[in-house]
Amino acid sequence: MDLTNITEKPFLPAEVIQDNLFPISYNNKQEVENMYDNAVAQKIAKQYKETPFTDFASISPKTIIEKLNLNWRERDLPEAQRTKHVHRLHPYMGKFIPQLVEIFLRKYQPKLVYDPFCGSGTTLVEANTLGINSIGTDISLFNALLTRVKTSKYDIPLLEKETRDILKRLREYKEKSYNDKKLIPYLQIKNEYINAWFSPTAQKDLLCYLTLLKDYTYQDFFKVTLSRSARSARLVTHFDLDFPKKPQTTPYYCYKHDRTCQPVVEAYKFLYRYTIDAFERIRDFLKFRTNAKVTINHNDSRTVDLPKGIDFVFTSPPYIGLIDYHAQHKYAYQLLGLQNNETKEIGPAKNGQSDNAKKDYIDGINAVLSHTRECMAKNGLVLIVVNDKYGLYNAERVGFKSVGKINRHVNRRTGRRDTPFYESVLIWQKL
Ligand SMILES: C[S@@+](CC[C@H](N)C(=O)[O-])C[C@H]1O[C@@H](n2cnc3c(N)ncnc32)[C@H](O)[C@@H]1O
Repeated sequence: MDLTNITEKPFLPAEVIQDNLFPISYNNKQEVENMYDNAVAQKIAKQYKETPFTDFASISPKTIIEKLNLNWRERDLPEAQRTKHVHRLHPYMGKFIPQLVEIFLRKYQPKLVYDPFCGSGTTLVEANTLGINSIGTDISLFNALLTRVKTSKYDIPLLEKETRDILKRLREYKEKSYNDKKLIPYLQIKNEYINAWFSPTAQKDLLCYLTLLKDYTYQDFFKVTLSRSARSARLVTHFDLDFPKKPQTTPYYCYKHDRTCQPVVEAYKFLYRYTIDAFERIRDFLKFRTNAKVTINHNDSRTVDLPKGIDFVFTSPPYIGLIDYHAQHKYAYQLLGLQNNETKEIGPAKNGQSDNAKKDYIDGINAVLSHTRECMAKNGLVLIVVNDKYGLYNAERVGFKSVGKINRHVNRRTGRRDTPFYESVLIWQKL
């Protein structure tokens, strides 16, 4: 999956490569050809010279999606659109772009959408904006929390009042140097992770905010902004926010900024900025939010209780051996004291991509799909966004038939921005 150390000659035209939006080359040509044959690559290369499709609102049941060019480059679908309103409430490695979900929801117009690996909630947010009821399940409590915060209904004047209030109180406590006797016990914590990964002042800022947020109606909203701030306030280098290995406590040469940078000493500025940003994003989403029902389960999607009548599944399962979904938000689990279910994650990075890991992965994915199928309506569709280079997905084995497959190149993935990457949308129908 991670195609970094690459020597093979690329099979795409030079102008595409020079575009630099298509970081290319492969270390194992055979592997890549198995995954996506040359014809697919050539088609995508050709499409790269053309303007991709962006008139999303025009999609209807009559649209032939196979004919659309979905190989968006940065200029076709800029970051601001991919991360509009709540889609950037919190960093999350491994999410798909909302426009991809939107296209298929508009095409198939389902009544009840389910995402068994809902992650940061992209499917549910998009379903809601189109007035479609949706259900999501995720084994990671932080991801379920994030999805809930994105999709909840808010009394905006109350949220604004609480936002102003918590920031005012945080500033007052900080100005008093956190010397308020009543507060001092709350600003200390014996936690190996927090003590190692945050400066003493950052710890106080975060713990003060954590104490204050308990006074508000929208506690979950503040928990997410706290987590986002904590992520930025960790003692990490600017160039390794995703996979930091050890705390950076001294000045360091920063490859990203080409100068010497200092480790972060406080969290206050992040808390302030992100709380306001999150409020604005929730308020912006209100313009699109409908009253369609959103249900979020923090559970294992192999066994979770589901209602009957799901007519459409849109999901991207964890890719085998690539990301540990609990570990990527470890700061949130530690600060908020969230229950950790990481042993139930399917295909975690720490299990790698060995034959045993593949077997466990297939068993896990098949168990989710079979379980989901039991609650699906007749002829219901399952759309799986995946890069199946190992050929692990098999519709018939779990009671579906394959009715389509759309391939696209993924430009600028979160967290792995410099490696070439294709994905497919597998379209299966319940047998
Ligand atoms: C690729 S991510 C989904 C991202 C999502 N499409 C988005 O846009 O945010 C896969 C998700 O599957 C979840 N997951 C892994 N094993 C699971 C299980 N057994 N049950 C439910 N969710 C699981 C992970 O926690 C992760 O959030």
